[in-house]
Amino acid sequence: MGKTYKIALMPGDGTGPEVVDEGVKVLDAAAKKFDFSLEYTHFDYGGDRYLKTGEVLPENAVEELSKNDAIFLGAIGHPDVKPGILEKGILLHLRFALDQYVNLRPVILYPNVETPLKDKTPEDIDFVVVRENTEGLYAGAGGVLKKGTADEVAVQDSINTRKGVERCIRFAFEYARKRNKRKQVTLCGKTNVLTFAFDLWERAFYEVAEEYPDIKTDYAHVDATCMWMVKNPEWFDVIVTDNMFGDIITDLGAMIQGGMGIAAGGNINPEGVSMFEPIGGSAPKYTGLNVINPLAAIGSAQMMMDYLGETEAAVGIENAIKRVVAEKLTSLSAGKMGYGTKEVGDLVASAV
Ligand code: IPM
Ligand code: MN
Repeated sequence: MGKTYKIALMPGDGTGPEVVDEGVKVLDAAAKKFDFSLEYTHFDYGGDRYLKTGEVLPENAVEELSKNDAIFLGAIGHPDVKPGILEKGILLHLRFALDQYVNLRPVILYPNVETPLKDKTPEDIDFVVVRENTEGLYAGAGGVLKKGTADEVAVQDSINTRKGVERCIRFAFEYARKRNKRKQVTLCGKTNVLTFAFDLWERAFYEVAEEYPDIKTDYAHVDATCMWMVKNPEWFDVIVTDNMFGDIITDLGAMIQGGMGIAAGGNINPEGVSMFEPIGGSAPKYTGLNVINPLAAIGSAQMMMDYLGETEAAVGIENAIKRVVAEKLTSLSAGKMGYGTKEVGDLVASAV
């Protein structure tokens, strides 16, 4: 008899619940096939709960979520709630409180998926972004003076700690070793302008690199990184970068791998509780229509199984996604898949 894992389900807002349902469907199929069990606990955190109760998260949220082996999140963001409240109050709060210091975002083009990059194939688009997830411009440091006047001043500081930067970089090197592909880590920064923050990053990067003589190092400014991601994505294996740059380049990454419908991610605390989520958001206009693509959520569930040590199940889910994409779907875009959300979930579950 295999292990039992406790999974916190946080479907959240918009299309979140629909895609989490399909993720659970596939997880259950994998549990049956690969002999382990999953115990789910449901959490209703999100916009609807906030509008009803006036509270973004209950006081014991972090404690309750921490009782689980992992968290599976749908999406956070509600059209009736001012931007920033739920994002900062729920998503960023949990990333910080659970010290999920890496946001891991694979950019992989599966066979038969259309990419906007001319002449690029699955061989060319296969890399992972390791985004620092607890510091940088996201830390909330700064403030505002004379608000609403002609003399208003707004300061938003980027926080970079040696500890925070170093652990993220080390994760990237370990990951490059584990991936065992080009065995290369690219630091994505802006050393020509952000001479305080990225000087720290650069020194930490080359010092950590000395511990990994089997891994090649590479550096690119963030603007150039965007250029190479479009022109020569095959140059990348693992990219490590700060929170803000990571946020931006992973939306670009999502587009070259076929769109938000397939872009999966994980907020990782290697020593704690990690949280897996599709990177696309709550897509209010598609909510409740059975048209949203659940593959990004299913891919996130796959990453969760990998992280929990159920490697065979993770590979099984990935192969199932690849098969369904190659043999069945007409597109990865919402409403154009040739199947509904639930049917795509059924197809992947039976392929598992
Ligand atoms: C992401 C999202 C979030 C971020 C938002 C919703 C706060 O864009 O996960 O990339 O900026 O990190
Ligand atoms: Mn983003």
